[in-house]
Amino acid sequence: MEQLKTLWYEADTDCIAYIDETLLPVSFEIARCTTIGELGIAIKTLAIRGAPALGLAGAFGVALAARRSGETTFEQFYSRVQADANQLSSTRPTAVNLTWGIQRVLSRMRTTGSIHEAKEAALSEALAVAREDAIICRKIGEQGATLLPDRCTVLTHCNAGALACSEWGTALGVIRSAIAAGKDIRVIVCETRPLLQGARLTAWELDRDDIDVTVITDSMAAQLMRKGEIGSVIVGADRVTRDAVFNKIGTYMHAVCAKYHAIPFYVAAPVSTFDFNGMEHDIVVEERGRDEVASLYGRKTIPDGVPVKNPGFDATPLALVSAIVTETGILSAPYDIRQVIEPAENTSRR
Ligand code: MRU
Repeated sequence: MEQLKTLWYEADTDCIAYIDETLLPVSFEIARCTTIGELGIAIKTLAIRGAPALGLAGAFGVALAARRSGETTFEQFYSRVQADANQLSSTRPTAVNLTWGIQRVLSRMRTTGSIHEAKEAALSEALAVAREDAIICRKIGEQGATLLPDRCTVLTHCNAGALACSEWGTALGVIRSAIAAGKDIRVIVCETRPLLQGARLTAWELDRDDIDVTVITDSMAAQLMRKGEIGSVIVGADRVTRDAVFNKIGTYMHAVCAKYHAIPFYVAAPVSTFDFNGMEHDIVVEERGRDEVASLYGRKTIPDGVPVKNPGFDATPLALVSAIVTETGILSAPYDIRQVIEPAENTSRR
């Protein structure tokens, strides 16, 4: 099966092409953004989603804004691109990668001396982010695969796969690499209410690769753990702070249950997802719209006027995490994320 590509830049027409993930698994369609405003909408609606893919989107978004700019002085050009980038950054506050991708390309542009040079540099830096992401996911996969035993059933939540990265995936990258190494791995994926990234996306991409996958509702996970049907849990991350892992709402519940049942709970994330100075209480958790919870399959599921809560993410204390797999190594307790080795190409964020 051909390698799945989630998001890329079409340099001849200066647009960002991506798989519209709101349509899966019903239809597979490639959509395009020609402005950073359109990109912001694609991110807000989760047509583009998942931490590393948001990093790529941020990087390509800055390149797009730069290359389509008609400003004539460098100062006007740069402040216009920066204003667009700030706007884009605010679309999803919890995932650190979006801002990381944006800042990486802006920093590269600042090293240039002309608008023409800055436009070229922005695109080449964004393309480098995409290339590196593919390599990083493979490295995470190879390191993480050593943690999974042969003949193992792995539970995952949300989608931390190719559809959340440029390709391969982080948590699903670990599963793919373990299978590539000859291990017999079965995957249980939680549907991931309210937007069903597990059921719609993870099940779709694993099934496409002929990987053994079964979908359960989120509330079934504890019982499967109790019955001894889950060997390991592995999830991705949107932000790793000094004391917690932020990931899709529901992750914390699995971590608590895994701890109770003595099941290893692993997190797979690139170094770009680390917030080296942040603590859980500093982080803004995105609160999403009522409709995502109050309707299902186009039908109302909650009486009008009854309030809902819809935080997009939760925080899992590091004490519940057995190991964090990055491209530069595997971390375990006692966690000191400031010891994480940053890849040479990353701008230092400490
Ligand atoms: O709201 P989403 O779909 O963007 O949330 C995605 C997740 O929580 C993923 O687990 C996380 O971004 C890691 S993706 C490698």
